[in-house]
Amino acid sequence: MADVAGVVNKDTSMAARLVRYANSPLYRGVSSVSSVKAAITRIGFDAVKHAILSLAMKDVFTTPFISIRDRMEGLWCHSVAVAAKSVLLAAHFHHLNRDEAMLAGLIHDIGVIPILLKAKNYSQLLERESHLDKVIDLLHMSTGKFMLSHWNFDPVMIEVAGNSDRLDREPGGSEVDYVDIVQVANILSYEGSDRHYDASVLKRVPAAQRLGIELISGVQEEMVESGDEDELSVVLRTE
Ligand SMILES: [Fe+2]
Repeated sequence: MADVAGVVNKDTSMAARLVRYANSPLYRGVSSVSSVKAAITRIGFDAVKHAILSLAMKDVFTTPFISIRDRMEGLWCHSVAVAAKSVLLAAHFHHLNRDEAMLAGLIHDIGVIPILLKAKNYSQLLERESHLDKVIDLLHMSTGKFMLSHWNFDPVMIEVAGNSDRLDREPGGSEVDYVDIVQVANILSYEGSDRHYDASVLKRVPAAQRLGIELISGVQEEMVESGDEDELSVVLRTE
């Protein structure tokens, strides 16, 4: 553990982020932690890898190119919202881990990033949002899968990036997995926006059936009442 703490401490921004993460609703203990070592102890040695990847993810969604900056920021905000909802949904399943759920939410649309980076050279594509959306719809899952395989991510995360919008997915078996969690979190994240899914969609999506419609509405109420979702979003958004 001293090695991991030593490496994290060399990056002051990551050290601050990790301590803040350990004090977030995910791990809030009786007293707050103030050192990297204490943060790692609270998060747990196995989970800290996922936490550090989540906290580093903001940099992947940052671009110096003005023409795609708004879209990239929008994508980051959407990913944070899906991550926070994924954590709260996953908390109801003992076999799932909250840090993995967080990372799964953050990377579920990561395949959009290289498409935006490519699109920045084509002003006609950038100006026609609906065309760009079509290209993204068509390619983002295979691109995300390829990126995460290339970066040696866990197969679980590769599975999420490759299936996040495949709403008819039937993996076999009834046990909820991270793809199910992210698909439902993604649907919920559009509530109140112009991309809002119609009310019956949860009833038709196999992932939502596996989670249970009642559990989903319970978690939605919980999110509104507790404010945990906002707090988790703040932890991820802060530099
Ligand atoms: Fe999404």
